[in-house]
Amino acid sequence: MIPAAVTNETYENRYTLPPIEEVNDTAEEILAKQERVRKLCRERKAIILAHHYQRPEVQEVADYVADSLRLSQSAAATDANTIVFCGVHFMAETAAILCPTKTVLLPDLRAGCSLAAAITTEELRAWKARFPDAVVVAYINTSAEVKAESDYCCTSANAAKVVRAIPAERPILFLPDKFLAQVVARQAQRSNIIAYPGFCHVHRAIRPEDVDEVLNAHPDVELLLHPECGCVSSCMAKALDGSLPFNRTFFLSTEGMLRHIGASPAQEFAVGTEMGILHRLKKEFPERSFYPVNPSAVCAFMKTITLDKVIRSLETLSPQVTVPAETARKARRAIERMLELA
Ligand code: 13P
Ligand code: SF4
Repeated sequence: MIPAAVTNETYENRYTLPPIEEVNDTAEEILAKQERVRKLCRERKAIILAHHYQRPEVQEVADYVADSLRLSQSAAATDANTIVFCGVHFMAETAAILCPTKTVLLPDLRAGCSLAAAITTEELRAWKARFPDAVVVAYINTSAEVKAESDYCCTSANAAKVVRAIPAERPILFLPDKFLAQVVARQAQRSNIIAYPGFCHVHRAIRPEDVDEVLNAHPDVELLLHPECGCVSSCMAKALDGSLPFNRTFFLSTEGMLRHIGASPAQEFAVGTEMGILHRLKKEFPERSFYPVNPSAVCAFMKTITLDKVIRSLETLSPQVTVPAETARKARRAIERMLELA
């Protein structure tokens, strides 16, 4: 892989992290609010799509809880009138692009993404101008405008597959996550990927020393890492030189982690991703043990969505996420190319 451009850019000036609201509902209050959500969904012919990083009580009321790929497939397939997206803005935009006739609600518009904020259309256009032969592969964690300027979309579940579908001689501009780009270059055995130097502030903070610590405390675990983690290149190198057990180190999307655990005989897993995934892992696999690689990996954007906001959103049918028709048309090409391969 051609290394990402050297930059000290932290992208922090491009997004505002919302405070994480404390919710102190009793179990009865949670049940009553979930019942209210279900009633409103029936009245509105709405479905709830929730990402694995959502609060547990929001995951519990959702029709589908999944990773970015499965959520976009669910959005594309639904016949509901309204989609309540319990996730972040780029996910709601992707649903709006795939379902132009449906109402797509995002219960809190502050649900942004530091990774999506790392690249603008102007930056992408300037980058493309420097590499006119390149194919542009945009991670789903990008704005609709950036997708509209891209050839393919991908998620962490299918990025290597998308890259393998591109003729070997064509250079690839891969954006915006430099850590995912490193994993994909290794998995697809590709040396002509040029990585944009963006990152997710939550996953970047999952560092090599965190991995060392969890493995020292729990030496028998399988190590499951999201490819956005800041430790991926160190872990890939250590898995190759034998200082990490090669056959017990895996780079997976959140859904990939669930599938992997379902098929694995292991009892203990170290999990390197946002903490919200632990709710579903413990629910699906109550007899296994899970240790977060970094327990402070919490995405404030994802946690903006609360049951109260889901209720308000269904009552008022707002805030809605829409994408201008021309941007949606161009972005849909990149997303549909991905869905065809998936
Ligand atoms: P996946 O659930 O697709 O692995 O995505 C992780 C993520 O960063 C979503 O914001
Ligand atoms: Fe974006 Fe990172 Fe939050 Fe995912 S965890 S929504 S990539 S900031």
